[in-house]
Amino acid sequence: MDVPPVVMIDPIDSLRDRRADFPILGETVHGRPLVFLDSAASAQKPVQVIDAMGDAMRTQYANIHRGLHWMSERTTDVYEAVRDQVAGLIGASAREEVIFTRNSTEAINLVAYSFGSMMRPGQAVVISEMEHHANLVPWQMLRDRTGIELRVAPITDDGDIELDALERLVADGKVALVAVTHMSNVLGTVTPARQIADIAHAAGARVLFDGSQFVVHRRVDVQAIDADFYTFTGHKLYGPTGIGVLWGRRELLDAMPPFMGGGDMISSVTFERSTWANVPHKFEAGTPAIIETIGLGAAISYIEAIGYEAVAAHEAALVEYALPRLAEVPGLHVVGAPAERGGVISFTMDDVHPHDIATLLDRNGIAVRAGHHCAEPLMRRLGLSATARASFALYTTREEVDALASTLTQIRGFFV
Ligand code: ALA
Repeated sequence: MDVPPVVMIDPIDSLRDRRADFPILGETVHGRPLVFLDSAASAQKPVQVIDAMGDAMRTQYANIHRGLHWMSERTTDVYEAVRDQVAGLIGASAREEVIFTRNSTEAINLVAYSFGSMMRPGQAVVISEMEHHANLVPWQMLRDRTGIELRVAPITDDGDIELDALERLVADGKVALVAVTHMSNVLGTVTPARQIADIAHAAGARVLFDGSQFVVHRRVDVQAIDADFYTFTGHKLYGPTGIGVLWGRRELLDAMPPFMGGGDMISSVTFERSTWANVPHKFEAGTPAIIETIGLGAAISYIEAIGYEAVAAHEAALVEYALPRLAEVPGLHVVGAPAERGGVISFTMDDVHPHDIATLLDRNGIAVRAGHHCAEPLMRRLGLSATARASFALYTTREEVDALASTLTQIRGFFV
C-alpha cells in the first residue's frame, strides 16, 4: 500500500489565503502596499463581518426584546444566538454568564462599579505593573470612592508577573479581587492564568482576567483557568468596535447590583422603586449594539472556521521568525523577554525616538503603534517613555516582517 507523503505546511504560510478576506489589505499608503502591524490596537475586518453587518441592516433589523412583531423577534433571536456563540467560544457554563458591553474597558468598569460596591473599606484589589489603563484607572476610581486599597504586583525585568510577590500581596486575606491581564498589550506576555487564579483563590480572592489581547490569538477556557470574571473586546477579534464582553460566574453576577439603569434591565418600575431583570439583562441597560453584536458573531464564526490551533501556530511561528530578524537591526532593542509571548513585540532603537520610528515606517506604508500604549506606569517601570510596537494578526506574513526589519535598518541608517 502506498503511504501518502507527509506534507509539512509552514504555519505562517498556512493562513496566507485568508488575506483575501480582508479588503483593506489591498490598499496602498503613501504609494506603498499597506503593511498593517497595528492589530493589537484594532484588527482589520474580514468581508464576512462586513457583510454580516450590512446584511443585517439591509434585510433583518428591528429593536430587540421589545417587539411583538416578526422583525423584532427575528433580530432578538440573532442577537441572543451570539450570546450562545460567545459562551461556546470561552467555555462558559451558561449563556446567562455572558454580558455584552461596549468594550473591555466598559466590562472592567462594570465589575469595578458593581462588584466593587460590595467591597468594604480595608479590602483590596491587586493588579500588576503591566496593566493597560483600562485595568488600572477603574480600580483607582473605586479606591477613591470607597476607601479600598489598590495593590500592585511587580513584574520581572523580562516582563513576567512575580508570582511569589503576588502570593505575598494576597496573603493577609484582605484581597477581594486580583485583576490582571491575560496577555500584555505592550510586552506580549501571556500570563499563567491558572496559577494566578489558584493563588487568588487560596487567599479567598476572586480573579478577573483582561483577555482583550489573548482571545485574538488563543482559545480561552474560563473553566480551565478557573476565572471568576473575563473580559474582551470585539474590535481586536476581527469584529466591529462598540461591542465587548464580560463573562462572570453566575453566582457573582446574581449578587452584584446593576451598573447602569434604564430600559431592558428592569423587572418592574414604579415611581417609588424598581426591581431588576435577571442576568444577563440586569447589566444591559438600554438598546444594545445590535448590529455590532451580529458583527461579533460573524467574527467568532470566522475565527472558529479557521481554528484557533492554526491561528496560534501562525502567530507562534511569526514571533519566532520576527525576534531574530529584529535583533539583526543595528541599535534595536526588543523590550521584555517573557516566558511566553503572544504576537506583540515592543522595541526601541538607539538615537531614534519611537514616534520618529512610527512616522518613518508609515512613509513606507508600514503601520505600527508608538507611545506608552495606554500603560504609562509600565513604561516608568521599564525606564522608558515610549516604545514602538509591532503586532501581528492572522493575516500577517513573513514578507511583512521582512519589510519591517529592512525598513528599520534603513531608518537607523538615517540617524547615525
Ligand atoms: N489597547 C489597544 C492597544 O494596545 C488600544 O493599542
